[in-house]
Amino acid sequence: RSEPIEAPEVKSEAAKKVKIGIYFATWWALNVVFNIYNKKVLNAFPYPWLTSTLSLACGSLMMLISWATRIAETPKTDFEFWKTLFPVAVAHTIGHVAATVSMSKVAVSFTHIIKSGEPAFSVLVSRFILGETFPSSVYLSLVPIIGGCALAAVTELNFNMIGFMGAMISNLAFVFRNIFSKKGMKGKSVSGMNYYACLSMLSLLILTPFAIAVEGPQMWAAGWQTALSEIGPNIAWWIAAQSVFYHLYNQVSYMSLDEISPLTFSIGNTMKRISVIVSSIIIFHTPVQPVNALGAAIAVLGTFLYSQAKQ
Ligand code: 3PG
Repeated sequence: RSEPIEAPEVKSEAAKKVKIGIYFATWWALNVVFNIYNKKVLNAFPYPWLTSTLSLACGSLMMLISWATRIAETPKTDFEFWKTLFPVAVAHTIGHVAATVSMSKVAVSFTHIIKSGEPAFSVLVSRFILGETFPSSVYLSLVPIIGGCALAAVTELNFNMIGFMGAMISNLAFVFRNIFSKKGMKGKSVSGMNYYACLSMLSLLILTPFAIAVEGPQMWAAGWQTALSEIGPNIAWWIAAQSVFYHLYNQVSYMSLDEISPLTFSIGNTMKRISVIVSSIIIFHTPVQPVNALGAAIAVLGTFLYSQAKQ
Protein backbone atom coordinates (compact mmCIF):
# COMPACT_ATOMS: atom_id res chain seq x y z
CA ARG A 1 0.00 0.00 0.00
CA SER A 2 1.39 3.35 -0.94
CA GLU A 3 1.64 6.09 1.73
CA PRO A 4 -0.23 9.35 1.05
CA ILE A 5 2.24 11.88 -0.30
CA GLU A 6 2.42 15.17 1.59
CA ALA A 7 2.98 18.30 -0.47
CA PRO A 8 6.44 19.80 0.25
CA GLU A 9 4.95 23.19 1.11
CA VAL A 10 2.70 21.59 3.79
CA LYS A 11 5.77 19.94 5.28
CA SER A 12 7.88 23.10 5.26
CA GLU A 13 4.98 25.10 6.74
CA ALA A 14 4.74 22.58 9.60
CA ALA A 15 8.54 22.59 10.07
CA LYS A 16 8.48 26.40 10.27
CA LYS A 17 5.75 26.29 12.94
CA VAL A 18 7.76 23.78 14.99
CA LYS A 19 10.86 25.97 14.66
CA ILE A 20 9.00 29.12 15.82
CA GLY A 21 7.44 27.09 18.67
CA ILE A 22 10.90 26.02 19.83
CA TYR A 23 12.18 29.62 19.60
CA PHE A 24 9.24 30.90 21.65
CA ALA A 25 9.52 28.23 24.37
CA THR A 26 13.29 28.82 24.66
CA TRP A 27 12.83 32.60 24.73
CA TRP A 28 10.23 32.42 27.55
CA ALA A 29 12.21 29.91 29.63
CA LEU A 30 15.44 31.96 29.35
CA ASN A 31 13.50 35.09 30.22
CA VAL A 32 12.00 33.58 33.38
CA VAL A 33 15.48 32.54 34.58
CA PHE A 34 16.86 36.01 33.76
CA ASN A 35 14.09 37.75 35.71
CA ILE A 36 14.62 35.59 38.78
CA TYR A 37 18.39 36.09 38.96
CA ASN A 38 18.06 39.76 38.06
CA LYS A 39 15.71 40.34 41.00
CA LYS A 40 17.82 38.25 43.39
CA VAL A 41 20.80 40.43 42.45
CA LEU A 42 18.87 43.71 42.74
CA ASN A 43 17.54 42.75 46.20
CA ALA A 44 21.08 42.25 47.51
CA PHE A 45 22.99 44.68 45.30
CA PRO A 46 20.63 47.49 44.22
CA TYR A 47 22.67 49.08 41.45
CA PRO A 48 20.53 48.70 38.31
CA TRP A 49 22.76 50.93 36.16
CA LEU A 50 25.72 48.66 36.81
CA THR A 51 23.82 45.38 36.40
CA SER A 52 22.31 46.60 33.10
CA THR A 53 25.80 47.51 31.89
CA LEU A 54 27.18 44.12 32.94
CA SER A 55 24.43 42.28 31.02
CA LEU A 56 25.40 44.14 27.85
CA ALA A 57 29.12 43.63 28.51
CA CYS A 58 28.65 39.90 29.03
CA GLY A 59 26.64 39.54 25.81
CA SER A 60 29.20 41.55 23.86
CA LEU A 61 32.03 39.39 25.19
CA MET A 62 30.16 36.15 24.44
CA MET A 63 29.64 37.27 20.85
CA LEU A 64 33.24 38.48 20.36
CA ILE A 65 34.42 35.04 21.51
CA SER A 66 31.90 33.32 19.22
CA TRP A 67 33.19 35.35 16.27
CA ALA A 68 36.86 34.78 17.12
CA THR A 69 36.37 31.02 17.48
CA ARG A 70 34.08 30.93 14.41
CA ILE A 71 31.17 29.46 16.39
CA ALA A 72 29.22 32.29 14.78
CA GLU A 73 30.01 33.93 11.49
CA THR A 74 31.42 37.47 11.87
CA PRO A 75 28.99 39.90 10.22
CA LYS A 76 30.12 42.17 7.44
CA THR A 77 29.13 45.66 8.47
CA ASP A 78 29.84 49.14 7.15
CA PHE A 79 29.52 52.66 8.52
CA GLU A 80 25.99 52.90 7.15
CA PHE A 81 24.99 49.81 9.19
CA TRP A 82 26.27 51.29 12.48
CA LYS A 83 24.68 54.64 11.68
CA THR A 84 21.26 53.00 11.18
CA LEU A 85 21.84 50.93 14.32
CA PHE A 86 22.53 53.98 16.48
CA PRO A 87 18.90 55.04 17.15
CA VAL A 88 17.99 51.39 17.80
CA ALA A 89 20.81 51.18 20.35
CA VAL A 90 19.76 54.42 22.07
CA ALA A 91 16.19 53.05 22.41
CA HIS A 92 17.47 49.64 23.56
CA THR A 93 19.70 51.24 26.19
CA ILE A 94 16.92 53.45 27.57
CA GLY A 95 14.37 50.59 27.58
CA HIS A 96 16.80 48.20 29.25
CA VAL A 97 18.04 50.50 32.00
CA ALA A 98 14.54 51.85 32.69
CA ALA A 99 13.12 48.31 33.13
CA THR A 100 16.01 47.35 35.42
CA VAL A 101 15.61 50.51 37.53
CA SER A 102 11.90 49.68 37.74
CA MET A 103 12.59 46.14 38.93
CA SER A 104 14.99 47.44 41.56
CA LYS A 105 12.09 49.40 43.10
CA VAL A 106 9.02 47.16 42.70
CA ALA A 107 8.07 43.48 42.37
CA VAL A 108 9.06 41.80 39.08
CA SER A 109 5.38 40.98 38.50
CA PHE A 110 4.40 44.66 38.76
CA THR A 111 7.02 45.78 36.22
CA HIS A 112 5.81 43.10 33.79
CA ILE A 113 2.12 43.93 34.29
CA ILE A 114 2.88 47.52 33.28
CA LYS A 115 5.07 46.21 30.46
CA SER A 116 2.15 44.13 29.15
CA GLY A 117 0.70 47.52 28.15
CA GLU A 118 3.39 47.86 25.43
CA PRO A 119 0.88 47.35 22.54
CA ALA A 120 -1.00 50.44 23.70
CA PHE A 121 2.22 52.46 23.36
CA SER A 122 2.81 50.91 19.96
CA VAL A 123 -0.60 52.04 18.68
CA LEU A 124 -0.26 55.53 20.15
CA VAL A 125 3.24 56.03 18.69
CA SER A 126 2.13 54.69 15.29
CA ARG A 127 -0.95 56.93 15.32
CA PHE A 128 0.46 60.21 16.62
CA ILE A 129 4.07 60.08 15.46
CA LEU A 130 3.98 57.95 12.30
CA GLY A 131 0.45 59.01 11.30
CA GLU A 132 -0.78 55.41 10.81
CA THR A 133 -4.47 54.76 11.35
CA PHE A 134 -6.12 51.58 12.63
CA PRO A 135 -9.65 50.13 12.60
CA SER A 136 -11.75 51.18 15.59
CA SER A 137 -11.55 47.63 17.06
CA VAL A 138 -7.81 48.22 17.62
CA TYR A 139 -8.48 51.45 19.53
CA LEU A 140 -11.24 49.72 21.53
CA SER A 141 -8.83 46.96 22.57
CA LEU A 142 -6.69 49.64 24.24
CA VAL A 143 -9.46 50.27 26.78
CA PRO A 144 -8.91 46.96 28.68
CA ILE A 145 -5.12 47.22 28.26
CA ILE A 146 -4.90 50.71 29.74
CA GLY A 147 -7.77 50.13 32.23
CA GLY A 148 -6.31 46.80 33.42
CA CYS A 149 -2.82 48.26 33.87
CA ALA A 150 -4.28 51.26 35.73
CA LEU A 151 -6.33 49.00 38.02
CA ALA A 152 -3.29 46.83 38.77
CA ALA A 153 -1.16 49.93 39.43
CA VAL A 154 -3.54 51.67 41.84
CA THR A 155 -4.14 48.48 43.83
CA GLU A 156 -0.45 47.49 43.95
CA LEU A 157 0.52 47.04 47.61
CA ASN A 158 4.12 48.15 47.08
CA PHE A 159 3.54 50.91 44.57
CA ASN A 160 6.56 53.07 43.86
CA MET A 161 6.61 55.98 41.41
CA ILE A 162 10.13 55.29 40.09
CA GLY A 163 9.17 51.63 39.58
CA PHE A 164 6.04 52.64 37.68
CA MET A 165 7.69 55.32 35.54
CA GLY A 166 10.64 53.04 34.74
CA ALA A 167 8.29 50.44 33.27
CA MET A 168 6.37 53.12 31.34
CA ILE A 169 9.57 54.63 29.89
CA SER A 170 10.75 51.13 28.98
CA ASN A 171 7.49 50.54 27.08
CA LEU A 172 7.90 53.72 25.07
CA ALA A 173 11.59 53.09 24.34
CA PHE A 174 11.02 49.49 23.23
CA VAL A 175 8.25 50.50 20.81
CA PHE A 176 10.79 52.73 19.05
CA ARG A 177 13.45 50.02 19.27
CA ASN A 178 11.15 47.47 17.62
CA ILE A 179 10.04 49.86 14.86
CA PHE A 180 13.65 50.91 14.08
CA SER A 181 15.13 47.41 14.32
CA LYS A 182 12.59 45.72 12.06
CA LYS A 183 13.37 48.47 9.51
CA GLY A 184 17.11 48.08 10.05
CA MET A 185 17.00 44.29 9.63
CA LYS A 186 14.97 44.43 6.42
CA GLY A 187 16.98 43.50 3.33
CA LYS A 188 20.24 43.31 5.34
CA SER A 189 22.58 40.34 5.22
CA VAL A 190 23.19 40.48 9.00
CA SER A 191 21.34 37.68 10.81
CA GLY A 192 19.09 38.27 13.84
CA MET A 193 21.77 36.85 16.15
CA ASN A 194 24.50 39.12 14.84
CA TYR A 195 22.18 42.10 14.67
CA TYR A 196 21.50 41.71 18.38
CA ALA A 197 25.25 41.24 19.07
CA CYS A 198 26.07 44.57 17.37
CA LEU A 199 23.16 46.18 19.21
CA SER A 200 24.58 45.01 22.57
CA MET A 201 28.03 46.38 21.77
CA LEU A 202 26.76 49.79 20.70
CA SER A 203 24.40 49.97 23.71
CA LEU A 204 27.29 49.07 26.01
CA LEU A 205 29.28 52.03 24.67
CA ILE A 206 26.32 54.35 25.18
CA LEU A 207 25.41 53.11 28.67
CA THR A 208 28.85 52.86 30.34
CA PRO A 209 29.51 56.61 30.86
CA PHE A 210 25.97 57.12 32.18
CA ALA A 211 26.28 54.21 34.62
CA ILE A 212 29.53 55.69 35.96
CA ALA A 213 27.93 59.14 36.26
CA VAL A 214 24.71 57.95 37.95
CA GLU A 215 26.15 55.32 40.30
CA GLY A 216 29.93 55.08 39.95
CA PRO A 217 32.73 52.91 41.37
CA GLN A 218 32.52 54.28 44.93
CA MET A 219 28.88 53.26 45.36
CA TRP A 220 29.53 49.92 43.68
CA ALA A 221 32.47 49.11 45.96
CA ALA A 222 30.49 49.90 49.12
CA GLY A 223 27.45 47.96 47.87
CA TRP A 224 29.64 45.02 46.89
CA GLN A 225 31.02 44.72 50.44
CA THR A 226 27.49 44.69 51.87
CA ALA A 227 26.27 42.13 49.32
CA LEU A 228 29.30 39.92 49.97
CA SER A 229 28.74 39.96 53.71
CA GLU A 230 25.01 39.23 53.34
CA ILE A 231 25.00 36.68 50.51
CA GLY A 232 28.59 35.49 50.26
CA PRO A 233 30.46 34.70 47.04
CA ASN A 234 27.25 33.38 45.43
CA ILE A 235 26.34 36.98 44.56
CA ALA A 236 29.02 36.86 41.83
CA TRP A 237 27.36 33.77 40.31
CA TRP A 238 23.95 35.41 40.43
CA ILE A 239 25.32 38.47 38.57
CA ALA A 240 26.95 36.17 36.01
CA ALA A 241 23.69 34.20 35.59
CA GLN A 242 21.52 37.31 35.09
CA SER A 243 24.01 38.65 32.54
CA VAL A 244 24.31 35.43 30.53
CA PHE A 245 20.56 34.78 30.52
CA TYR A 246 19.85 38.39 29.56
CA HIS A 247 21.95 37.98 26.46
CA LEU A 248 20.59 34.55 25.58
CA TYR A 249 16.89 35.44 25.81
CA ASN A 250 17.37 38.58 23.76
CA GLN A 251 19.44 36.71 21.19
CA VAL A 252 16.71 34.08 20.77
CA SER A 253 14.03 36.76 20.56
CA TYR A 254 15.95 38.54 17.77
CA MET A 255 16.46 35.20 16.00
CA SER A 256 12.70 34.74 16.01
CA LEU A 257 12.09 38.37 14.95
CA ASP A 258 14.03 37.42 11.82
CA GLU A 259 11.28 34.94 10.90
CA ILE A 260 8.04 36.46 12.15
CA SER A 261 6.06 39.66 11.84
CA PRO A 262 6.30 42.33 14.56
CA LEU A 263 2.69 41.45 15.45
CA THR A 264 3.42 37.77 16.11
CA PHE A 265 6.48 38.94 18.03
CA SER A 266 4.42 41.16 20.31
CA ILE A 267 1.89 38.37 20.98
CA GLY A 268 4.81 36.08 21.90
CA ASN A 269 6.21 38.79 24.14
CA THR A 270 2.93 39.19 26.03
CA MET A 271 2.64 35.44 26.55
CA LYS A 272 6.20 35.54 27.86
CA ARG A 273 5.08 38.10 30.48
CA ILE A 274 2.37 35.76 31.76
CA SER A 275 5.00 33.11 32.53
CA VAL A 276 7.26 35.73 34.19
CA ILE A 277 4.41 37.22 36.27
CA VAL A 278 3.19 33.83 37.50
CA SER A 279 6.63 32.34 38.23
CA SER A 280 7.98 35.46 39.98
CA ILE A 281 4.87 35.70 42.22
CA ILE A 282 5.42 32.08 43.27
CA ILE A 283 9.20 32.34 43.76
CA PHE A 284 9.30 35.70 45.55
CA HIS A 285 6.02 35.15 47.48
CA THR A 286 4.74 38.47 46.11
CA PRO A 287 1.57 39.54 47.94
CA VAL A 288 -1.29 39.91 45.44
CA GLN A 289 -4.78 41.23 46.20
CA PRO A 290 -7.67 39.77 44.14
CA VAL A 291 -8.46 43.16 42.56
CA ASN A 292 -4.77 43.55 41.68
CA ALA A 293 -4.77 40.18 39.93
CA LEU A 294 -8.00 41.13 38.16
CA GLY A 295 -6.32 44.27 36.76
CA ALA A 296 -3.41 42.20 35.45
CA ALA A 297 -5.76 39.64 33.88
CA ILE A 298 -7.81 42.38 32.14
CA ALA A 299 -4.62 43.98 30.78
CA VAL A 300 -3.33 40.68 29.39
CA LEU A 301 -6.75 39.83 27.94
CA GLY A 302 -6.77 43.28 26.31
CA THR A 303 -3.48 42.45 24.62
CA PHE A 304 -5.01 39.32 23.11
CA LEU A 305 -8.02 41.32 21.88
CA TYR A 306 -5.54 43.81 20.41
CA SER A 307 -3.71 41.09 18.51
CA GLN A 308 -7.00 39.74 17.17
CA ALA A 309 -8.14 43.23 16.13
CA LYS A 310 -4.82 43.95 14.41
CA GLN A 311 -4.94 40.72 12.43
C1 3PG B 1 15.44 44.62 30.37
O1 3PG B 1 16.14 44.62 31.34
O2 3PG B 1 15.82 44.98 29.23
C2 3PG B 1 14.03 44.20 30.54
O3 3PG B 1 13.87 43.33 31.59
C3 3PG B 1 13.58 43.67 29.27
O4 3PG B 1 12.27 43.57 29.19
P1 3PG B 1 11.61 42.72 28.05
O5 3PG B 1 10.88 41.67 28.80
O6 3PG B 1 10.71 43.67 27.35
O7 3PG B 1 12.70 42.15 27.19
